[in-house]
Amino acid sequence: MLPTWAGLLLSAVPALVVAQSANLQGSVGALTSLEDKRATKTCDITDYGAVADGSTDISTALNDAYTDCSSGGVVVVPPGDFALATWVTLSGGSAWALQLDGIITRAGTEGGNMIFIEHGIDFEMFSSTGKGAMQGLGYEFHLDGDIEGPRLLRFYDMASFSVHDFALVDAPAFHFSMDTCDSGEVYNLVIRGGDSGGLDGIDVWSTNIWIHDVMVTNKDECVTVKSPSKNILVENIYCNWSGGCAIGSLGEDTDITDITYRNVYTWMSNQMMMIKSYGGSGTVSNVVMENFIGHRNAYSLDIDQYWSSMDPLPGDGVQLTGITISNWTGREADGLERGPIKIMCADGAPCTDIVITDFAMWTKTGDSQWYSCQSAYSDDASFCLQAGDGGTSYPATTTTVYTAPTGYKAPKMRGDLSTHTWSTTASIPIPTFPASFFPGAMPYSALAAGS
Ligand SMILES: *[C@@H]1O[C@H](CO)[C@@H](O)[C@H](O)[C@H]1NC(C)=O
Ligand SMILES: *[C@@H]1O[C@H](CO)[C@@H](O)[C@H](O)[C@H]1NC(C)=O
Repeated sequence: MLPTWAGLLLSAVPALVVAQSANLQGSVGALTSLEDKRATKTCDITDYGAVADGSTDISTALNDAYTDCSSGGVVVVPPGDFALATWVTLSGGSAWALQLDGIITRAGTEGGNMIFIEHGIDFEMFSSTGKGAMQGLGYEFHLDGDIEGPRLLRFYDMASFSVHDFALVDAPAFHFSMDTCDSGEVYNLVIRGGDSGGLDGIDVWSTNIWIHDVMVTNKDECVTVKSPSKNILVENIYCNWSGGCAIGSLGEDTDITDITYRNVYTWMSNQMMMIKSYGGSGTVSNVVMENFIGHRNAYSLDIDQYWSSMDPLPGDGVQLTGITISNWTGREADGLERGPIKIMCADGAPCTDIVITDFAMWTKTGDSQWYSCQSAYSDDASFCLQAGDGGTSYPATTTTVYTAPTGYKAPKMRGDLSTHTWSTTASIPIPTFPASFFPGAMPYSALAAGS
């Protein structure tokens, strides 16, 4: 069921239905409206001892407010600067919400997760103003080169939840992970981390999750699906100077199916989309990656089953089958150095049913680019894919092209900047929301922050 307020946006309803039909199974999101939760109970942390002075640990107040509202109600973090020094685990709630209108800044140094929410059902975490945020001050760890310290937000075993309209900033480690969750909707989020690996935006390994209208700035995962996952729809994503989106890294007994990425805009990232593994076993099947725009990324489509950043795992390789790449436009940074199609499948498990259509990318630098495939099969030979249904491996085969494909030109987002402002040595300011997360696409739900 949709929250009531979303139901009021009548014009958005047909779009929601269309979007959800792509890969989701049944409805996603919180079950009880905020109005009903508020009517049940409101637990404001300042009534439990929290002080918005930027230094008093709100941990006990947050735990106590949660205890009173966890079986129905809204825990409110009102506007103001709050400090969290002792991490909280909010376990077993139902029909509750966490309204984050203030800013929670990290004040402790433990590892783990600043806010860990688990074993709950019918949950909503949101900012009513779009101004709520978690500020991780990760740079204090990153200054001396350490990617350690806590993750900002982690969900485990949560069902029927909505997460929206706040910012996650400068995580010491990852920003937001969803582990073994079901039927969630995550939208209108802005994530901004340091310019370094190890600072993932959103990682999800779950079932029936709709992630849309999200911007990520960092230098690692933008929105990434891990194993096991099923029925995940990711759309209207702005990877603004990030690592880029990915599936993986994949290991033994990989089990990923029915994944759609749609309307993904990637600027100055490592890649537009990557599937990464080295050895391992299991399957990735029925994946669609459509309507991608990229500008000045290193790689574009990068399927690498010999990924050099991981140690090889036991197994012949993860079987990739039924991967459709369609409607990609834009320009990669340097197509002779890193061509826009790189598909290195495992020789022990050649990829099958790879379909590439409406793919028009061209190089920003120079006048040529390459397509390279290894052990990758399609029904018909196209680009560097060989025709056939798998079986035998073949070595990397590279085709260099000297003519730009027609229709490669693609719009840019207004927020693109030519320099990365956020280093790992200074505090990262809380960002504001872009009006849109993909050229020409308005957010499915109006931004709480307005536009
Ligand atoms: C291809 O993607 C663009 C956005 O880059 C979109 O405007 C267009 O409608 C898409 N075309 C098809 C056939 O889906
Ligand atoms: C995109 O990222 C750059 C570099 O971090 C930042 O300066 C810019 O404000 C971001 N764009 C938006 C719309 O936030």
